[in-house]
Order: sequence, then structure tokens, then C-alpha cells
Amino acid sequence: MPLDPQKAADFIKEQAPGFMPRVGIVLGSGLGGLADKIDAVASLNFTDIPDFPRSSVEGHQGKLVLGRLGGMPVICMQGRIHLYEGVDPQDLAVPVRVMKLLGVEILLVTNAAGSFHEEVGPGRLMLISDHINFTSRNPLIGENDERFGPRFFSMEDAYDPILREHLKAVAKELSIDLSEGVYLHYPGPNFETPAEIRAFKTLGADAVGMSTTPEVLVARHCGMRVAAISNITNLVAGLSKTALSHEQTLECAKLAANDLEKLVIIFLETLKRELLKAHMKEEADGDN
Ligand code: HPA
Repeated sequence: MPLDPQKAADFIKEQAPGFMPRVGIVLGSGLGGLADKIDAVASLNFTDIPDFPRSSVEGHQGKLVLGRLGGMPVICMQGRIHLYEGVDPQDLAVPVRVMKLLGVEILLVTNAAGSFHEEVGPGRLMLISDHINFTSRNPLIGENDERFGPRFFSMEDAYDPILREHLKAVAKELSIDLSEGVYLHYPGPNFETPAEIRAFKTLGADAVGMSTTPEVLVARHCGMRVAAISNITNLVAGLSKTALSHEQTLECAKLAANDLEKLVIIFLETLKRELLKAHMKEEADGDN
């Protein structure tokens, strides 16, 4: 039986009555600390939510936290599920669809990634401008669920240009170096070979990681606006002077974790002001 996002959403609504999140956040490896900054209304283990997929990776706690961050009502995945865990790719559609059913309009995705550019090394952040799905898998393969979106849809401007401009402006205000580039999703669980890295460079990748494209595909299918940020934890295989490992990823994820937290919180604050302005304008226009 496929997992039913409605069942999971109904359960979550019961745990946080009357709470409607506007922004969904997915936290990558070593970035779970941001969830602790949420003024929480409810905090649920993935394993306690019916019809919700579960994570098995160390460093991905597997919690869903609902509450306010930067004043914005959010729902945050502290940890995510990856293709390499061997789950049915269709199950990866569930968390984002649950968010949609709860009212989320904007999805903010974070991940840990290796950088192809020596000048953008560990401790730096990269705004994702586009992606290459190199996994040959996709949570949307199979019968289309018309409740969420159409069979065929565009992935042009999938990473919302306006949200990207907002994030760049906030980063500038906070004096945070934010580069921008293309993220390539490698299936893992091994890190890439140097030959693969050379091939991916010619394909146009700026960073590589093992996540993100499933959530972004599902979010765009159901019409959410998307922004995504890579926390650069290493230079890619062949460029890196240290051996790549999950421990290394978690250790170096700490370098930019603070910058990322500040960036996200201030971004949400400005977004909230923008939404309020738009809402007030709509109301005023309605009165005229
Ligand atoms: N490759 C794949 N996934 C990663 C990397 C990498 O270099 N760094 C962090 N996650």
C-alpha cells in the first residue's frame, strides 16, 4: 500500500490544532540546530506519524517541528529521507505533500554538498540556481496524483528567482558570502570517483550532494515556490586534500551552520513583512 499523505497530515493537524505553516523547511546533514531555534508548537518523531517515511542516517534526527521561526509559521524536517536508504522513491513525495496539505506555499531546502570551486570551500554557502538530477529516479514516476499537480510540468525557474534575490539581499546585509550555482544530485551512498567529478564538471555542476532533487520536484509539481541552499562541507573528490566521509561532512557542516541559521531567520522575517504587505494590499484592494 502506498503511503497516504492525507493520513499523515490529519495526524499532524491533531497535534498542532489551528496551526497553519506557510513555509516548509528541510534541514540537511549537520544543520539540525536550526530546528532548535523554532518556537515550537509541536515536535513529532517521523516514526510516530502514520504513513510518514522514516530516516535511518546518523545526523538526521528524523523529527518534524512545527512553530514560529523569524515570526513565520513553519514546519521543519529535522533530517530527511534519501534515495540511497533504499526507500521507494514514491515515498519521498510524502513529506512535501504533507506540507502542502497543511498550507505550505514556500519550501526552503538545505543540504550538505561538495564544491567544484576551490574559492568556494568548506564553510561557504551556495544558493542553488538549478539542478541536475543524476539519479535517474524521481518520486513522481508512476501514476500521477491529480490532487497535487499535472502529469507534465515545467522545471524552468524551479528555484524561484524572486526568493533568490531576497536571499542574496539578506546575505549581503549580513555580510555572508553567498555564491550561486548548479547542484548535481548524485545517488550515493558512496562519494563520487574523481573521474565522475571530472564528468560532472563538464556537465555544468558547481556542487554535488545526495539529496534535494526529490523534494524540489515534488514541491514544483504541487505549485510551491522553492529556494535551496547548499552548505559546502568539502571540495569534491580529486580536489579535496582530506578523505571524504560522513564524519567529515558533519564536522565541516558546523563551519557555516551559524551563517545559514542567521540567513534563514532574517530571510523569514523579511518574507513575513512582504507577505503581510501583500495581504494588506489585497484587503485594501478588496475594500475599493
Ligand atoms: N559528494 C556528495 N555528497 C556530499 C558531498 C560530496 O562531496 N559533501 C557533502 N555531501
